[in-house]
Amino acid sequence: MHTDLAVELIGITRRFGSFTANLDVSLAVRRGEIHALVGENGAGKTTLMNCLFGMLVPDEGRIRIDGRDVQIASPQDAIALGLGMVHQHFKLVPSLTVAENIFLGMEPTRGGLIDRKAQSEAVRDLARRTGLSVDPDRPVRELSVGIEQRVEILKVLARGARTVILDEPTAVLTPQESRDLFRTLRGFTAAGMSVILISHHLDEVLEVSDRVTVLRDGAVIGTARTAEMTESALAQMMVGRPVSFGRKERTPGAGATVLHLGNVDAHDDRGLHALHDISFEVRAGEIVAIAGVDGNGQTELAEVIAGLRRPSGGRIVLNGQDTSQASAQEVRQAGLAHVPADRLVRGVDLRESISANILMGRQHQRPWSRHGLIRWGRVRAEAQALIRRFDIRTRGPDAPVKSLSGGNMQKVVLAREFSQSKPFLLVDQPTRGVDIGATEGIHDEIMRQRAAGVAILLISVQLDECLRLADRLLVLFNGRIQAEMDPVTASLDEIGVQMMGGRAAAGGTP
Ligand SMILES: Nc1ncnc2c1ncn2[C@@H]1O[C@H](COP(=O)(O)OP(=O)(O)OP(=O)(O)O)[C@@H](O)[C@H]1O
Ligand SMILES: [Mg+2]
Repeated sequence: MHTDLAVELIGITRRFGSFTANLDVSLAVRRGEIHALVGENGAGKTTLMNCLFGMLVPDEGRIRIDGRDVQIASPQDAIALGLGMVHQHFKLVPSLTVAENIFLGMEPTRGGLIDRKAQSEAVRDLARRTGLSVDPDRPVRELSVGIEQRVEILKVLARGARTVILDEPTAVLTPQESRDLFRTLRGFTAAGMSVILISHHLDEVLEVSDRVTVLRDGAVIGTARTAEMTESALAQMMVGRPVSFGRKERTPGAGATVLHLGNVDAHDDRGLHALHDISFEVRAGEIVAIAGVDGNGQTELAEVIAGLRRPSGGRIVLNGQDTSQASAQEVRQAGLAHVPADRLVRGVDLRESISANILMGRQHQRPWSRHGLIRWGRVRAEAQALIRRFDIRTRGPDAPVKSLSGGNMQKVVLAREFSQSKPFLLVDQPTRGVDIGATEGIHDEIMRQRAAGVAILLISVQLDECLRLADRLLVLFNGRIQAEMDPVTASLDEIGVQMMGGRAAAGGTP
């Protein structure tokens, strides 16, 4: 049978208990196209792709691959049918090398032993053919997220995928890495492969996809040719109301210094010098943004401020207290609220309920506990109020965090940290993986914290986010404050140049 459709999902319905995550969803992906799948956090995008990839079994509906009805009961079935999936949360093994990860479960052998040389060579060959360059022998734990993702893609290709599903692949990428990724994806479709791309970045969707399907509340709102769409039309389809994208209005004025860094130096996990002579202040009622390409010291900067990494030199003063050598708990007591970049590692306990996660770190404080007993009624009521305020899409405070969609997990962390009335707020990539409607809500919350006099340090690899929120913009490059720029008057090009180290024709990342 001849068809130009690579994948057809027909009438897919998937329920979790009484909740319907996908309702009668039909989606057809053509051969050689990049088909974008968009929708709010919790709209059902990942669920749908998990049904296609055999991670979940749909309650109703059919799947056709290359025009043939198929049964997909496991990822192995999906892989055998030429499907590959790069998940929203990466699944590589950190202690193994790049090559070991790529060939996991299908290692080339020689005389009954794994042929490491052949394995590395095969990775090098694949990397050459796809332009996704990696070092096969490097352990994954040493890689930046951008490179980790390359490894995920190579792993999918090594298994012979003809349709590649990417679930929010650019949420953790820099603009340059995203452009490189899109070039790679274009190469795939030029070779007749198909791509299903989930993304919250509508500008990217408009730039790179051929067609786009919008999901809302588990159902398809429509499929359109991308060329006929605009950002605001797409946003309106997704959210069901108009969304604003501009810089946030503000009243001027900052108060006393809340955070002071003086000549701070630090080393990374490999013992390399990661922060050099960092000095700046954040005052009450002010948002200072750290812009920069990921991997230029952002992680280490957030860690030294939060007491998760010892600075090797310099001084940090928070709320009048020297916290240079303080533990994470002491820094929190001194006045830190912290939304960490990696929500799955440091942000939440996935197995616990939303209520328990909201309580995290406050178990022994009033009014949440009395005579050593946790007052769950109060905690639940607080969680319920925060669910409403932060628009967390869930069935209630008792739901385990692992049942939430990615963006809604992020909102749980934000809700907990923003509701603590601390004088200093460190927000690291606060809207990574968050949909545009919810991003607007989070930005409004950050502005409310600012208006309440909180000193805010925003670390974000998304320059548009920095420009929308910052009173002052610092560019981090190679572990140094490369420049301070005015977020209102500086041009994107000027900032971009500083992000690459100040050379107009900077070639590549550090
Ligand atoms: N295993 C599960 N048990 C219960 N509910 C679930 C489960 N998996 C997903 N859900 C629910 O189904 C809905 C859709 O989730 P899904 O992860 O598909 O959303 P999404 O569109 O990928 O969102 P995001 O953009 O935030 O990643 C969410 O409300 C989520 O809470
Ligand atoms: Mg998802």
